[in-house]
Amino acid sequence: MFSKNSCIYLDSSATSRYKPRAVIKRVEKELKNSANAGRGGHRAAMRALETIEECRERIESVTFPGNVIMTKSCTEAVNLAVFGARYGGEIITSVYEHNAVLRPLEKLKKSGVAVRYLTSPDGVITPDLLKRNLNKKVSLVALSEMSNVTGTVQPIDELGSLLAEYGIPFLVDGAQSLGHTYSKYTGVTMIAGAGHKSLHGPQGTGFLCYRKEYKLSPILFGGTGTNSSSLIQPDEPPEGFEAGTLNTAGIGGLSEGIRWTEKRKADIVAHVEKLSAKLIDGLESVGGVKIYSNNLNGVISFNIADMPSTAVADVLDSDFGIATRAGIHCAPLIHRWLGTLSQGAVRASIGCKNTLSDIDRLLLAVREIAVKNAKGEYRIR
Ligand code: ALA
Repeated sequence: MFSKNSCIYLDSSATSRYKPRAVIKRVEKELKNSANAGRGGHRAAMRALETIEECRERIESVTFPGNVIMTKSCTEAVNLAVFGARYGGEIITSVYEHNAVLRPLEKLKKSGVAVRYLTSPDGVITPDLLKRNLNKKVSLVALSEMSNVTGTVQPIDELGSLLAEYGIPFLVDGAQSLGHTYSKYTGVTMIAGAGHKSLHGPQGTGFLCYRKEYKLSPILFGGTGTNSSSLIQPDEPPEGFEAGTLNTAGIGGLSEGIRWTEKRKADIVAHVEKLSAKLIDGLESVGGVKIYSNNLNGVISFNIADMPSTAVADVLDSDFGIATRAGIHCAPLIHRWLGTLSQGAVRASIGCKNTLSDIDRLLLAVREIAVKNAKGEYRIR
């Protein structure tokens, strides 16, 4: 029996539970020294500005040199990318996207833009597949680098080279991949990121990094600390896009999170791969379990026979102290593609502090639930 206070956390795709000491210390330091960046010329305000500039530089170091706009989430960053420019004709995306991409694009449909959803037998959008779908009307391609349901990674650099040849802007949703993948992003126009997942920063932090030569307009209006005598929103990045006081403490924490993660990235990736392999192997040996992930990227979705995924996740939590995420993970089209729109799936997502014993505990629990379910001991349907 587990202790009621213990939690085996396997929900890192929702947010990383482990925040490095350096992140926590930095957030505390920034809070203790609170000042409003760009809203005064005194030294305290200048120091807060340095924190934000430092974070922008670290974001560029893991993406590409560009304009870095700080946002409260990856979703807000995708919104800026989608609504900050005028797209016409067609936008290409995939069925493997999160609602952070799907919903803004569906909203654009109302203004006459067509949205085309790509799909492939194994969930990978190859350059060939994309090329076959390009035409003169395509004004944007928007894809997530890593699926938050299956962990499948798209070949972003090859897709980027192709789109650069065609001169088509390319938006990448890096929410799940930054901190884990090694893409160079050379052909990418804009990348949206979340601070609180594999970059180990605080929640409430996100960003959009976009090429200096690309033109975006602000979608948020208000005080920027710049051009204050004008009633017109300044459109110079980054400040013109960041109306309102920034989350300086969170941004300081994100800056440390990026530094901490980058130093250990190779070890973290190897660790996540090792645990993923063990989990997939183990799940394969449990009768009635169906697995939807075929990679070692730490995002492993599965179901136990026809049990509702939410029921399995509830039992994992209440009877075994294991936190997973069930349902459709804000990604309805990939679940429709997987055939799991009504059942959903149980997603175990692995973080840098998970251990082999966490995986053993999950496997034991899944086996027990599968056996009880086969005996008809659960009445939840
Ligand atoms: N997008 C996050 C997830 O996949 C919250 O759980």
